[in-house]
Amino acid sequence: MSRCVVLGAGGHAHVLIDVIQTAGNIEVACVLDRNESLWGKEIYGIPIAGGDDRLFSLKADGVSGFVVAVGSIGDNGPRARVFRTALEHGLTPVTIVAHTAYVSRMAVLERGCQVLSRAVVNPGVVVGENSIINTGAIIEHDCKIGRHVHIAPGAVLSGMVTVGDMAHVGTGASVRQAVAIGNGAVVGVGAAVVNDVAAGSVVAGVPARPVGRRKG
Ligand SMILES: CC(C)(COP(=O)(O)OP(=O)(O)OC[C@H]1O[C@@H](n2cnc3c(N)ncnc32)[C@H](O)[C@@H]1OP(=O)(O)O)[C@@H](O)C(=O)NCCC(=O)NCCS
Repeated sequence: MSRCVVLGAGGHAHVLIDVIQTAGNIEVACVLDRNESLWGKEIYGIPIAGGDDRLFSLKADGVSGFVVAVGSIGDNGPRARVFRTALEHGLTPVTIVAHTAYVSRMAVLERGCQVLSRAVVNPGVVVGENSIINTGAIIEHDCKIGRHVHIAPGAVLSGMVTVGDMAHVGTGASVRQAVAIGNGAVVGVGAAVVNDVAAGSVVAGVPARPVGRRKG
């Protein structure tokens, strides 16, 4: 059984540790978080053992993998930075697929992806590294999803949608077939996206309209 470290101790970490412990095929050695007030506490029996400086010593402790558990509500920059830092320390990204998720044999998940409970990833889909397909999200056939993307809970991408690197599709949003969502764009919760979304823009509403530029 491979041993991994979970990076981040917030709500997303709780979900991931629950999914990992239910699957039972990966051992979580510890959680790291830069918030010192959490050090010494536990998440479901897993110790929060310190901050990023502990990454140096983990390989010697037999830890080979990492899971980015930093959440995001629009800005995926922190997730991307944590991913790169862990790679620089020689750790390997672990791909997480919840036991109730469906991932087609004809789909590709790049390293470090997370497909959470009851999510669906259909044939011809490619999901870039370190992206989250969150609880109950549906990625229809032939969608292409970039790196460090968050498809939030219950969002639905129709077939052939493309989503650029670092983009965020909010909880419960729906996206029309073949729409292109640009790099770093943010789609608000509950939006109905029927036109392409420019890189870095924020859209919301039904139908989705621009409401600004991404903060951060
Ligand atoms: C769209 C979004 C990014 C805008 O956030 P923001 O820039 O902080 O904007 P504000 O909350 O200040 O709202 C600005 C205006 O847009 C409206 N608005 C915000 N989100 C909206 C949405 N999803 N749909 C419709 N209108 C929305 C607000 O009511 C407000 O309107 P007003 O100016 O008339 O009062 C944010 O509301 C959102 O939906 N984020 C996604 C969150 C998510 O997916 N979380 C998942 C975590 S797992």
